[in-house]
Amino acid sequence: MARILVTGGTGYIGSHTVVCLMQQGYDVVIVDNLSNSNIEVLDGIEKIVGRRPDFENVNCNDYVNMERVFTQYPDIQAVIHFAASKAVGESVEQPLMYYRNNLGSLVTILELMLVHNVPHIVFSSSCTVYGQPDKAHLPVDETAPIQKALSPYGNTKQINEEIICDTCHANANLHAIILRYFNPIGAHPSALIGELPNGVPNNLLPFVTQTAAGLRDKLRVFGNDYNTPDGSCIRDYIYVVDLAKAHVKAVERMLAGLPTDQVEVFNLGTGRGLSVLEILRTFIKVSGIHIKYEIVGRREGDIEQVWANPKKANEVLGWKADTPIEDVLRSAWNWEKKLRGIE
Ligand code: WQD
Repeated sequence: MARILVTGGTGYIGSHTVVCLMQQGYDVVIVDNLSNSNIEVLDGIEKIVGRRPDFENVNCNDYVNMERVFTQYPDIQAVIHFAASKAVGESVEQPLMYYRNNLGSLVTILELMLVHNVPHIVFSSSCTVYGQPDKAHLPVDETAPIQKALSPYGNTKQINEEIICDTCHANANLHAIILRYFNPIGAHPSALIGELPNGVPNNLLPFVTQTAAGLRDKLRVFGNDYNTPDGSCIRDYIYVVDLAKAHVKAVERMLAGLPTDQVEVFNLGTGRGLSVLEILRTFIKVSGIHIKYEIVGRREGDIEQVWANPKKANEVLGWKADTPIEDVLRSAWNWEKKLRGIE
């Protein structure tokens, strides 16, 4: 069976994708420098799958050691590139670290793919490239205009997509599938892997589950004066396991030689927009825990509302994110309880 190189494979989305790949019979080698994840994730993957992925503790920016990985695993047939820094606020404070890390790692990966004749890459991108779509482009599909990034993090995603397109244009045998994620949430149903945010979570769901677990006093809802039905922001919250399955579909598509274009782009969302307050209300219903929350001012850089039109991914990839939000939120809570030793 083909071997897949997964960079960032001990991370949140990467680890769930490794599980799905291995359950489909693929051999996987994870490359991760553990800068934003930990080695115990490999134990969780092994417990779920029944075998351990190969693992190389390497920084994707390190050409010499990445070269060693490609040489050591000559059966690599595709790369899924997750490894990147992804904290929006941090990218505003440290832009050069983001440009060096997120752009440099992709350039290194692509250079080595060409040297070692690895023809396929799946790239982890984000709906952040769309910025705030105008009403005419909601739900947002792949033809929606790319808008000027609101953060260096978002800009690195846009530049990465351009790097991939230019490299494919110059190398006819290279194929790429770019996956634009909406808002990944939840955890594996086994509660053996899940999101492990460092420090105080920026993202909504881990902050909600940590509040429910008593680690945080209350949730701050960043604004309820938006032009939305309940005034809070709307997002397309997609179950991380559904998202992982889309990556397997993308790899299968390329290994089967099906892509009609050298670069294909897919929006990975549910097609359902939910507000912050709807997520909060549903979590309280599912968990039975009353979360204290306070409406505070808007968070700088937040867009008001975005959700996906997933039609292209549904039809071309044969993939659909249809896990009910109640089950997704339950999986997030089960994972938090497991992390904190709560029955
Ligand atoms: C969702 C909503 C907040 C925390 C970011 C990145 C995006 C992607 C996903 C990587 C917003 C509100 C949040 C809190 C709140 N990351 N919120 N209180 O900002 O949509 O997307 O993460 O690819 O690129 O931009 O996700 O979870 O931070 O926020 O009210 O304590 O929840 O204002 O409306 P976001 P988020």
